[in-house]
Amino acid sequence: MSEIIIKNESQIEGVRRSSKLAGETLNFIEPFVKAGVTTAFLDEKIEEFIVNYGAIPATKGYNGYPKSSCISLNEVVCHGIPSENTILKEGDILNIDVTTILDGYYGDTSRMFTIGEVSPKAKDLIEVTKHCLDLGLKQVQPGNYFGNIGFVISRYAKAKGCSVVFEFCGHGVGLNFHESPQVDHAARKNSGEKMKPGMIFTIEPMINSGRPSTVIDKNDGWTARTVDNKLSAQFEHTVLVTKTGFEVLTDVDGNYPIT
Ligand code: MF3
Ligand code: CO
Ligand code: CO
Repeated sequence: MSEIIIKNESQIEGVRRSSKLAGETLNFIEPFVKAGVTTAFLDEKIEEFIVNYGAIPATKGYNGYPKSSCISLNEVVCHGIPSENTILKEGDILNIDVTTILDGYYGDTSRMFTIGEVSPKAKDLIEVTKHCLDLGLKQVQPGNYFGNIGFVISRYAKAKGCSVVFEFCGHGVGLNFHESPQVDHAARKNSGEKMKPGMIFTIEPMINSGRPSTVIDKNDGWTARTVDNKLSAQFEHTVLVTKTGFEVLTDVDGNYPIT
């Protein structure tokens, strides 16, 4: 793998602006996420919002990916392709993942949405997954090892009876969509590289109710499903290593302190 890029102040400001837009896009789409709408409709709204801002949806055309977002329902782990044939219904859980390019800088974030009443099992999985992301973020500070992100995430997920997807990872981000390092969500304590101020990467745990393995849809080449068709959930933020801790660049709701 290539070197981990240390961003300078002006690059950080660029990634910060793009990341805010990605976060705002998720807030924008929230009121449209309800029973009866198609995921293709949500994708169109997302594309319109991003383009109207003067930005580009990074996924469209990325390695042939056709849409402006990934929308992953229920047993879909990630990379669900928005479709006219996918209609949201009561009880569904879904992840919407948005990556923006603004003035050449990338911001990447995703979160879960629920349609009406969802099962207690689904609610628990979503809560566990959100907590996994928060535990990972708290590991971000200069001198700490990347492996400790995956260490705390997998320890907690397993304690809650869930499994951690190992076939998809977080990643450096900012000047490109996917940069070094690969950020594993299951890892050994004190493994991997050390974090340094100016590094920017995603943490995006995918947590399953059942087994951790995934299968890619043979027909579209993208949609990753759980091998046992049990539920999967995911949350993602883009995070900056500061001199003393971290700044969640895609946080537009003031949910995280800047340390
Ligand atoms: N946004 C996803 C991530 O978090 C990547 C999607 S790539 C695509 O890394 F091609 F599937 F869109
Ligand atoms: Co990502
Ligand atoms: Co993403």
